[in-house]
Amino acid sequence: MLKKQDNVTVRHSLNSRICHWIMALSFFYLLYSGVMIFLHFPELYWGKVGFQGYPAIFKLEDWGISWELAERLGDRRWGRNYHYLFAWVFVINGLVYLLWNGVRKDFYLKIFPRFSELSFKNIKRVFIFQIRFSVKNDVSMPGYNVIQKLCYVFVLFILFPFMIISGLAQMPAFTAISPELIDLFGGRQTARTLHVICSLLLVVFFIVHLVQVFASGAVTQVRTMVTGSYVGSKSEMKVQ
Ligand code: HEM
Repeated sequence: MLKKQDNVTVRHSLNSRICHWIMALSFFYLLYSGVMIFLHFPELYWGKVGFQGYPAIFKLEDWGISWELAERLGDRRWGRNYHYLFAWVFVINGLVYLLWNGVRKDFYLKIFPRFSELSFKNIKRVFIFQIRFSVKNDVSMPGYNVIQKLCYVFVLFILFPFMIISGLAQMPAFTAISPELIDLFGGRQTARTLHVICSLLLVVFFIVHLVQVFASGAVTQVRTMVTGSYVGSKSEMKVQ
C-alpha cells in the first residue's frame, strides 16, 4: 500500500500498472506463439539430441494428437516471428520494471515477505483463508498476504529469469557467442524441455491469479489495476 486517504487506498503505482499490462500482453503472445512452435515438433527430449523417432520423454501422440494433426494446428513461422518479437518486449519491460521499482524501499516491503510471516502456522492459516475464499474484496486490504508475496517472488525472480535464460539457450545466434549456456543445461533439448515445463508453471500461476481476481471482485480488481486506487470501506480483516 502506498498511501491512504479516508476511503481511498492507493494500491498500485503508475509504473507497476504500465509494466503489468505490457507484461500481460507479452505473456499472452509468448504463450500463444510458444504453443504454435511446439505443435510443429510435439515431442520433448532430455540432453543434447532430439529428433523424430528418438526416445522422447513426452509425446503429444500419447495424448491422442498425432504428429500430422499437431503440425496442422501449429504454425512455426508465425510462432517464431511473434515469439522473438514479444521476447524483446518481455525482457525490456522486465528490466524497466526492476530499474523503476528497484530503487524504492516500499517495493521490497510490498513484494518480499517478512521473516515473521514465514512460519508454517501462518502460511497454513493464510492458505486455508485463500482456499475458502474467506477474503472478500481484498483490494481494500493493506498489501499482499504471505502466499501472494511468495508466489510473486517466485514468478518475478525465479521463473521469469529462467524463461529468459532457457530461451537464450535455444537461440543459435546467442549460443554461437556463448556455447557455455547450452553446457549449463546439459544440452539444448534439456533447455527446451525446461522452458516448456516452466511455461506450464506460469500457466498454473496465471489460472490461480485469475481465479483470485474473480473471487475477490473482477471489476473492482481490474479497475484498481487501471486507476491504481481502490475506493470503498477498508476491510477489518488482516491476513499477513
Ligand atoms: C515468459 C513467457 C514465455 C513462454 C510462456 C514461452 C513459451 C515457449 C514455448 C511453449 C515454446 C515452444 C518450445 C518448443 O517446442 O521449442 C518456446 C520456445 C522458445 N522460446 Fe519461449 N516462452 C516465453 C518466454 C521466452 C523468452 C523471454 C525468450 C527469449 C529469451 C524465449 C525464447 C524461446 C526460444 C528461442 C524458443 C525456441 C523457438 C524455436 O524453436 O524457434 N521464450 N517458448
